[in-house]
Amino acid sequence: YTSTGAPGDADALDVVLEGLRRLEYRGYDSAGVALQIAGRAHGALYTEKKAGKLARLEEALEEQPPPPSRTGIGHTRWATHGGPTDENAHPHLGGGVGPDGVARVAVIHNGIIENFAALKRELLAEGVTFTSQTDTEVVAHLLAKAHTGDLAEAMRTVVRRLEGAFTLLAVHADLPDVVVGARRNSPLVVGVGEGANYLGSDVAAFIGHTREAIELGQDQIVTITPASVTITDFAGNPVQGRRFHVDWDAAAAEKGGFDSFMAKEIADQPQAVADTLLGRSDEDGRLILDELRVDEAALREIDKIVVVACGTAAYAGMVAKYAIEHWCRIPCEVELAHEFRYRDPVVNARTLVVAISQSGETMDTIMAVRHAREQGARVIAICNTHGSTIPRESDAALYTHAGPEIAVASTKAFLAQITACYLLGLYLAQLRGNKSPGEVTDILGQLHAMPDKIAKTLEGLDQVRRMARWMADTRSVLFLGRHVGFPVAMEGALKLKELAYIHAEGFAAGELKHGPIALIEPGQPVFVVVPSPTSPLHPKVVSNIQEINARGARTIVIAEEGDEDVVPYAQEVVRVPQTPALLAPLVTVVPLQVFACELAGAKGLDVDQPRNLAKSVTVE
Ligand code: G6P
Repeated sequence: YTSTGAPGDADALDVVLEGLRRLEYRGYDSAGVALQIAGRAHGALYTEKKAGKLARLEEALEEQPPPPSRTGIGHTRWATHGGPTDENAHPHLGGGVGPDGVARVAVIHNGIIENFAALKRELLAEGVTFTSQTDTEVVAHLLAKAHTGDLAEAMRTVVRRLEGAFTLLAVHADLPDVVVGARRNSPLVVGVGEGANYLGSDVAAFIGHTREAIELGQDQIVTITPASVTITDFAGNPVQGRRFHVDWDAAAAEKGGFDSFMAKEIADQPQAVADTLLGRSDEDGRLILDELRVDEAALREIDKIVVVACGTAAYAGMVAKYAIEHWCRIPCEVELAHEFRYRDPVVNARTLVVAISQSGETMDTIMAVRHAREQGARVIAICNTHGSTIPRESDAALYTHAGPEIAVASTKAFLAQITACYLLGLYLAQLRGNKSPGEVTDILGQLHAMPDKIAKTLEGLDQVRRMARWMADTRSVLFLGRHVGFPVAMEGALKLKELAYIHAEGFAAGELKHGPIALIEPGQPVFVVVPSPTSPLHPKVVSNIQEINARGARTIVIAEEGDEDVVPYAQEVVRVPQTPALLAPLVTVVPLQVFACELAGAKGLDVDQPRNLAKSVTVE
């Protein structure tokens, strides 16, 4: 935020804190602000940052109010590199060589700098002292070094060295009226006010001040002053941003214009998967999971894997089983955490337990982790929330980077969990020599193609939305799937129960003839998740579709583009892009999520907070 004095006498701190409050829905584990304080010869920076909720930062600022300021930046953090501590909270400072010996540049960052380790090594060799474990601090130091009076020019110099995803904002102690931003792969919008301009990761940040906005494109640098907005590409060529008027109210703005957080989170899934993959392979296509820090020798000795989780996370675990056993040839079980804990499972020092949890606070899963460790097992957490209990109590953590998930029923965290499971499976296969470097690179390439396929799936779902609206009165829906389509069927049924309160069941398609087929009567809706025609299971599932079709079911199939075999027996065919068999859940579950969300909406239900459910269940 930067202002000349209008509107009113607003202080930068108030404007920045209001923006942070409006972004509170994004959830955070720490927050901070940096204010430019004008001085006679040189200015100064005032920063305050605190782990925990925004209220903790506000308390600290009340205890020690900063001097008045017209220019400032603020951030709420969702940890990726480095746990949620005061030191790791943004802004990060660079410099320390100014006339008063204090930092000259403050930086905030969303995203992940993939090559931060190499840059950090370089800076350490030059004698730079780091005060945090974040990737962001690297940028602050680089920027301070590059600055010779033009902050935008310094930013252009620095971003050319960065790999990964970032939205960066920076202020300089000596520049009273300037905020510079950079954007690659993470959102950044400009709010155009009168005598004041704003930058935010979405319009919700400044909607209290202006509804005039400019969208920044990929790889652009923006400089705002109270009276100007200047945009260039990374090379410094001027570019024209796309101007638009925001007609959302504040609540709609938080949801990015979607009807619900769930709808927004479903739409965010390509990004959630891309971010979870980001920074986890090197230039040679080798998988690097630095953060795992489990003794590699111990991982080579593992003779059994047990995945423990609850709810949606347990279905991600079922997908993990298919991938891990196929790639690593290690026996892999999946068990609901609460069942695992109390049945005296066979677990020992050669067992690897993988605990999957979005929140990291699910008590059933925590108890399973504790039990596994007591038996001498090694525990790896797959978790979306830094600093939460499960990763803290595990031997190592592999974080999903889905960002905060607000809707109670899980969607984008599920896709990110599946992605992390693939990474873990592939890592073990690489480590234990089950897959050659070339094979690992190939599978990683296939994984990197998934965000686009998910986006393509999302584009083609009007048919599913129409169906959901027609079917709002349905009393029961069945879901069938086979192989990795089985957990997808279970998750499709769970979403419908959770969101729309409709009786729904997921079955393994092969089990149909052993019982569930008795449920089929004319008009019974049945979703069938069809494997790729390249799979040997394809003809078997097509037979299942014929069987239920012959008994009058209303069959809705989720099938790959180009799969014509299913067409004669299905009332509806929902298309997903062609995908390697093991990776298919990342696309096939998407229509089922959208179906449940839309149907619940059509019934007038609150999709973000379904009755009786909690986002994280912290009791056994
Ligand atoms: C609750 C939520 C589910 C979630 C499950 C596991 O039951 O309602 O959506 O899948 O907990 O949560 P976790 O945070 O451990 O992934």
